[in-house]
Amino acid sequence: MTLAQPKKVAPSILAADFANLAAEIKRVELAGADYLHVDVMDGHFVPNLTIGPRVVSAIKKVAQIPLDVHLMIENPDRWIEDYVAAGSDIVTVHVEAAKNPRDIFQYLKKKNVKSGITLRPKTPVEDLYQYLNDVDLVLVMTVEPGFGGQSFMEDQVAKISWLRDQRQKLGLNYEIEVDGGINQITVKKCFEADVFVAGTYIFKNDPAAAIQSLKAVPTH
Ligand code: DX5
Ligand code: ZN
Repeated sequence: MTLAQPKKVAPSILAADFANLAAEIKRVELAGADYLHVDVMDGHFVPNLTIGPRVVSAIKKVAQIPLDVHLMIENPDRWIEDYVAAGSDIVTVHVEAAKNPRDIFQYLKKKNVKSGITLRPKTPVEDLYQYLNDVDLVLVMTVEPGFGGQSFMEDQVAKISWLRDQRQKLGLNYEIEVDGGINQITVKKCFEADVFVAGTYIFKNDPAAAIQSLKAVPTH
C-alpha cells in the first residue's frame, strides 16, 4: 500500500436514524461512502446494546457498499458464524474479547470474508503484532468503545504510525482504519490511516460535504 492510495470513509450507522435505516444508508451511499460501518454491542463487552445478526442481515439487503462490521462483543468466537451468515463483508473483533483470534481469521478466510482486529485505547498496540499477518484490516480506536459522539483521543494516534511502520517492514497489506471522534479537524492527526470511520460528523451534517472533507485530508 502506497501513500497515493485514496482515502476511504466508513459512516457509522450508530449515528443514523434507526427508524429509517434504509433511507439513511442510501443517503451516505449517494454521498460517497466506501464502507458502511456497523457497530455491534452486546451490553457486556461494552456498556451499550445495539443490534444483532438479524438487523445486520436486513441492512445487507439494502446496502450496495461493503458492510464493515465492528464486533464489540464478548466471545466473538461463539457468534462469528451468525455475522458471516448475515452478510458481513469485513468482520473486526477485539483482541481483548476473542478467545482464539487466529481460528476466527481462518474461518473468515474460508468464507471469503475480510478480517479485522482492533483494540481498546488502553491496550498496547504491540498486542496485535502476532496477528498482523492474518488480517485484512487493523482498527485503531480513538475513543473508548461503546458510544458515538465522544471526544477524539489524540494519544492513540501513535498506534497508526506504528501500524504503518510494521506494514512496511513486514511487507503486509492490511488497511489501517481509525474510529471515534473523527471530524474535519481530528482527521488531520490521522492522515496516516486509510479508512476513516465517522458517525456523528457525517450523519449530523451534510453527509456529502462531510465525507468529502475527510477524503481531502492532507497526506503529510
Ligand atoms: C464507538 C463506535 C464508533 C462510533 C463512532 O464504540 O465504535 O464507530 O459509532 O461515532 P463518532 O464518529 O460519533 O465518534
Ligand atoms: Zn466502530
